Amino acid sequence: MKLQQRNVPSRFLDAVRQLRTRPYLLITTLVGGLAFVIAGATYHSRPVSATTPPSSMLDMAVPSVSLPVADSVRYWQAPDGSKLPAGVAGKEIQYGRDLIAHTAKYLGPKGTVKAISNGMNCQNCHLDAGTKVMGNNYSAVAATYPKFRQRSGTREGIVKRISDCFERSLNGTAPDSSSREMRAMVAYMKWLGADVPTGETPKGAGLAKLPYLNRAADPVKGKLVYVAQCQVCHGAKGEGTQTPGATEYTFPPMWGPFSYNDGAGLYRLSNFAGYVKNNMPFGISYETPVLTDAQCWDVAAYVNSMPRPHKDQHSDWPSAAAKPIDFPFGPYTDSFSEKQHKFGPYQSIATARKATDARK
Ligand code: HEC
Ligand code: HEC
Repeated sequence: MKLQQRNVPSRFLDAVRQLRTRPYLLITTLVGGLAFVIAGATYHSRPVSATTPPSSMLDMAVPSVSLPVADSVRYWQAPDGSKLPAGVAGKEIQYGRDLIAHTAKYLGPKGTVKAISNGMNCQNCHLDAGTKVMGNNYSAVAATYPKFRQRSGTREGIVKRISDCFERSLNGTAPDSSSREMRAMVAYMKWLGADVPTGETPKGAGLAKLPYLNRAADPVKGKLVYVAQCQVCHGAKGEGTQTPGATEYTFPPMWGPFSYNDGAGLYRLSNFAGYVKNNMPFGISYETPVLTDAQCWDVAAYVNSMPRPHKDQHSDWPSAAAKPIDFPFGPYTDSFSEKQHKFGPYQSIATARKATDARK
């Protein structure tokens, strides 16, 4: 399987090129861009270690360099592309990977298979086709589904979980469970997680959980972070960047009609902040974060205060007591406001929950 090497510098140059027509971006670019270039340079010059290979190098011959391993548990590593099964099975897995990386090409507004989603790619949030450490990877999927999930109050299989992201993150509808596309995505995820023992969540799966701030996350402070560090790629109006005529975004939208809806995982501040910490500005990794935890919480508060599509969620969370602390829509079984659930401070909510649980 050919895993593409990401071309960070050229994407960045594309953004810089826009400055010709939008000179007011210059200052913010210099500030944000400098941080990005430094981060990018660090990222690219890191030695290839046995524990933390850049996932873009999956297909390359990786020299075996033994470095001291600080943690006893190793980060998960995606299987090597050369280990794909031959024939039809391998082709299906490759198609599944391509659907994750280039969803819009097949299923976006100009999709060749069916126009059923908003133009984003799964990969926009599940980086490197769902293989990046702390980049919302799929390493735990094969080993932990089917499982009971509180949001639906049901036992969910992989198809249901994929459908959720289509309906929420891609603000659309899911391909049929028996379609070639759905089967291919499931095959890809099963292949990725084939070596993970049943029930286990590998180190580096999903997103980081940042410690709570001792104050509410602040959209006003977050706007400053956004302007300095994010706007150059994601746009002053959060609209993202798409070359005219293209089917996919160069830089995906942050808010507005083509972004994820308010039922999506990223609409919760903890998920957004955890995603940004180890993955943005684009090009960084968990080893080279640029933003402080507070900046991540604040930019999450800003972006998730901007307009975006709404999803009817009245049948979600059949048990209101099971809503995550930062879930922004009531009713709740505690007395904290929707505003505090959304922005924090969260610690007092967490403490109150512990007290209730202890009384049960
Ligand atoms: C806007 C960001 C975003 C996009 C785009 C997105 N997802 Fe997700 N996805 C998330 C987040 C955040 C989570 C986990 C957090 C949560 O929902 O609580 C998640 C979770 C998942 C999981 C469960 C992972 C696990 O270990 O439990 C699967 C499977 C998944 N997504 C598949 C997809 C597929 C397939 C697509 C494309 C059709 C997609 N996602 C697009 C944000 C996104
Ligand atoms: C150099 C350009 C660049 C900068 C700067 C940047 N991003 Fe991104 N961002 C990207 C790209 C590219 C993707 C999609 C990654 C992919 O598809 O592989 C992305 C994806 C995202 C996503 C998930 C997809 C979505 O649109 O919802 C979020 C959230 C995000 N970025 C937030 C931020 C935040 C917050 C900042 C500032 C702290 C930031 N980004 C800075 C390029 C950038």
